[in-house]
Amino acid sequence: MESDLERKIFLVDKLQQDWESSDFDFIPMEVVHRVPDAGRPESPELVPPKDLPRRGLGTREGHAALIHSIAHIEFNAVNLALDALYRFQNMPKAYYQDWLRVAMEESYHFQMIREHLYHLGSEYGDFKAHNGLWLTTYETDHSPRVRMALVPRTLEARGLDVTPPMMKKLRAIGDKRGVEILKILLRDEIGHVEVGTRWFRYLCREEGLNPFDEFVTIVQSYFHGDLRGPFNFEARVEAGFSEEEIQWLKSIEQGFVDRAETT
Ligand SMILES: [Fe+2]
Ligand SMILES: [Fe+2]
Repeated sequence: MESDLERKIFLVDKLQQDWESSDFDFIPMEVVHRVPDAGRPESPELVPPKDLPRRGLGTREGHAALIHSIAHIEFNAVNLALDALYRFQNMPKAYYQDWLRVAMEESYHFQMIREHLYHLGSEYGDFKAHNGLWLTTYETDHSPRVRMALVPRTLEARGLDVTPPMMKKLRAIGDKRGVEILKILLRDEIGHVEVGTRWFRYLCREEGLNPFDEFVTIVQSYFHGDLRGPFNFEARVEAGFSEEEIQWLKSIEQGFVDRAETT
């Protein structure tokens, strides 16, 4: 719930120290609160995605706006990792260790990209942003299985698809540091999606569900908008997507190609 950026970063580090010094409390809490609005600073102003201006990378402002949108994702990612840690109270200890590591990495990503943004003459909060990531996190707070399917395995997994083309664009405008940062992000995000995959499968096993059928059902019933390619299959395989899931994504990607060709 902390809304101050510096303090939030400090508190995430503190959690890690508590873990290492065994000060972490594993006794399940009696009341777990829903969090419609997680702690974030007053700016950026949140607007519907359709109200975000589309800018090219040709101007300094467009470049900074792209880096800002990544900073916003990384900031939200800190909140969503912490929410996974807080909300689902009856998971094995390894689950908490995994999500604490994710929270630490997201905090590190945020700091790195925020500093880069600063070198481009802007700060986190200078551009508008949308709240899609948090809304999905909030809507999936009733079930760790639904959460794992939709937040790491759908939203963060989308990051695996879009990062390489983004790196290409930044390379084209000579933003070497930006490319370097995205490379680190991509490497770590494969790990975050893998964490989601592992715990999603674990929860399916516990409940005797077929993980493939369950994943497809959850995506179809909860995901707003279209699941669309092109997908980064290599990274998704590394993040634990099964052969069956990859084939399903390939059929979706092909569906879009076919539709584009007939219209
Ligand atoms: Fe991240
Ligand atoms: Fe992540």
